[in-house]
Amino acid sequence: MARALTLLLAALAAAAAQDDDFGFHISDAEYYTMPKLFALDEYRGCVARGLGYCVGSFDLSPRGAEAAQMFQLMQRYSANWVDRFNHMRLHRGVCLARRCPRPPAAGGRLEDWFADCVNATTMADYNMSATLTTLEYCRGGEGAGDEGGAGEEHRAPLGASERAAAALAAALLALAAVSTTLDLTLPDHNRKGMQWALSWSVVGCWRALLATPPVSKESDLRMFDGVRVICMFCVIIEHVCWLATLSYSSDPRYTEEKRRETDVMLMTNSTLVVQIFFMMSTFLLAHKLLRARRRAALPLWGTFSQTMLNRIIRISPTYWAVVWFAASWWARLGSGPLWTPLVGAEAAVCRHKWWTHLLYLNNVVYPDDKCLIQTWYLAADMQVYVLCLALTLVLTRGSWGPRRALPLLAGCLALSLAVLAALAYAWRLVPTFVMHRPECIRRAYHGEASFNVLYQSPLGNVPGALAGLVLAHTHHLLLDRGFKAEEHPWFRWSSLAAFPLAVLWAALSPRLLGAGPPPRAAAAALAVLERPVFALGMGVAMLGALHGVRSPWRSGLSWAGWAPLARLSFAALLLHMPINKSVVASRLQPKQLDRFTAVFEWCGVAAISYLAAVPLALLVEIPAQRLHAALTRARAAPRVQPETNNNTVEKTPHT
Ligand SMILES: *[C@@H]1O[C@H](CO)[C@@H](O)[C@H](O)[C@H]1NC(C)=O
Ligand SMILES: *[C@@H]1O[C@H](CO)[C@@H](O)[C@H](O)[C@H]1NC(C)=O
Repeated sequence: MARALTLLLAALAAAAAQDDDFGFHISDAEYYTMPKLFALDEYRGCVARGLGYCVGSFDLSPRGAEAAQMFQLMQRYSANWVDRFNHMRLHRGVCLARRCPRPPAAGGRLEDWFADCVNATTMADYNMSATLTTLEYCRGGEGAGDEGGAGEEHRAPLGASERAAAALAAALLALAAVSTTLDLTLPDHNRKGMQWALSWSVVGCWRALLATPPVSKESDLRMFDGVRVICMFCVIIEHVCWLATLSYSSDPRYTEEKRRETDVMLMTNSTLVVQIFFMMSTFLLAHKLLRARRRAALPLWGTFSQTMLNRIIRISPTYWAVVWFAASWWARLGSGPLWTPLVGAEAAVCRHKWWTHLLYLNNVVYPDDKCLIQTWYLAADMQVYVLCLALTLVLTRGSWGPRRALPLLAGCLALSLAVLAALAYAWRLVPTFVMHRPECIRRAYHGEASFNVLYQSPLGNVPGALAGLVLAHTHHLLLDRGFKAEEHPWFRWSSLAAFPLAVLWAALSPRLLGAGPPPRAAAAALAVLERPVFALGMGVAMLGALHGVRSPWRSGLSWAGWAPLARLSFAALLLHMPINKSVVASRLQPKQLDRFTAVFEWCGVAAISYLAAVPLALLVEIPAQRLHAALTRARAAPRVQPETNNNTVEKTPHT
């Protein structure tokens, strides 16, 4: 263990010292002689005056020797595709009549006018011909209304889906009003047997939101709330920078230059924290089952169906409501030159594949089309959860204690890693940092095998989930043996060191590949190992914390104030992307991204997402759980009503 740690440290230190020397560096002066990547003309005035506005992407090719030289510079610079944009592809939003005279050959089509106009500009400025490769939309042509098929959605009349969604929202508000009134006015003796009618009481739900979580003496799980919230914040900052890269950027040079700096690599790799979500989810599952088993044998099928039902009821109402919103109202709630390509296009995907979200299959059915991209996690988590639940139940049968289950789990883990390694090598998969490269982000990972096979697939996340099972079984094994952390200094120290090491791993592991495009075998190895190594570090840290090893982060994460935020994290996970994307897509000019902007938008998006999560939790998530709890209780004990104070909403063990 100690040797492995030393080796890891040495590798990371060597990696940190390494310089980025891949390929080809050019001075700022040379950089800015290349054609500008992103540009947007004024939008509102152009559309209002019917001058014709188009957005699309163009591929360049040189005409003449001088242009060929410049083109070669662009090619050599873009050859480092891990860190840089493709500079041979320009992205433009053009107000046609302001820039170019209508060409006689265009035959009235805005699209042809657009292609001619941008080509004329690049020919005049650079002697480079520009071919229109992607047309996002054209609109606002003279007297023609909407052209090019991509009309502004918010002008269209309301469809059935929008009306139904609005009716549902109104019904929920009415339900909340009635239920709250009942809750405030019913005398105590009339409440018995009426709990179901009080489920939607805003007062009751608010109390449930703020309730102090119960503390168990043997396993102190309070820190999980803090972990959940902090991880959610890591996800939010990553998505803030991700969306800025996805949109038009006012200074791509900054993004390209800073990509290899340690804090930026840590930010980019912070999506690794999703592994902690997987681990916590299966840890809590196995922990609950192992604890229940200490009291009595578990009925196999009964436990399975009950656990799955509880989970689906806990997650689905909120999830489905947000998907419905994205498929219906979202596209109407803003405008701007990039609104249609960013929000309109995603809303169209949601209208197309909404049913895959209902079935928790959105990560494997139409995996290239992204509707609320972050929800791949909910689907993958549900899929590996079923698997882990079945596995744990089988392992808790008969005389299998945690001691005999552990080697079997370790075997499954090794097997899954071997399969992933073979796939990663065969299909040239790349690790997270390489996958989050500028051009790949711009197309939202469309057609990216690393995203489909490693990142969002159940298979790629099985190791993280199994790590959670291993953690739970180890925890119970140590409990069974009366393990005392204070008698084992090595346990204490390795669990203390594990957390900072895991963070270092996230920040520095991309450097193990060297600069520029990575070698195949190394990329495959890191792609498979980055998640398990990170999960191992976090698992060892958690095991220590569960067994009373004190550390500043354990105390910080166990603060009682995290509990309500943790309960809101699920709704915040769903909401932060539509909120953030709406802000980005309503911008009239290309978006600036630098450290200050990133931190400010991080705080802003996080604050607004958690605030927006409050009504969603109070009107959908918590009432649905309370209703389910009330109905289950009523069925289980039709006569004797248990004493309830409505404060015991089950803690959400997912994000
Ligand atoms: C384009 O090429 C022509 C002839 O080859 C040359 O006269 C002109 O200066 C070039 N323009 C630019 C912008 O390089
Ligand atoms: C761009 O314009 C030039 C002449 O100015 C022409 O030769 C070239 O074919 C045009 N490119 C495209 C893609 O239309």
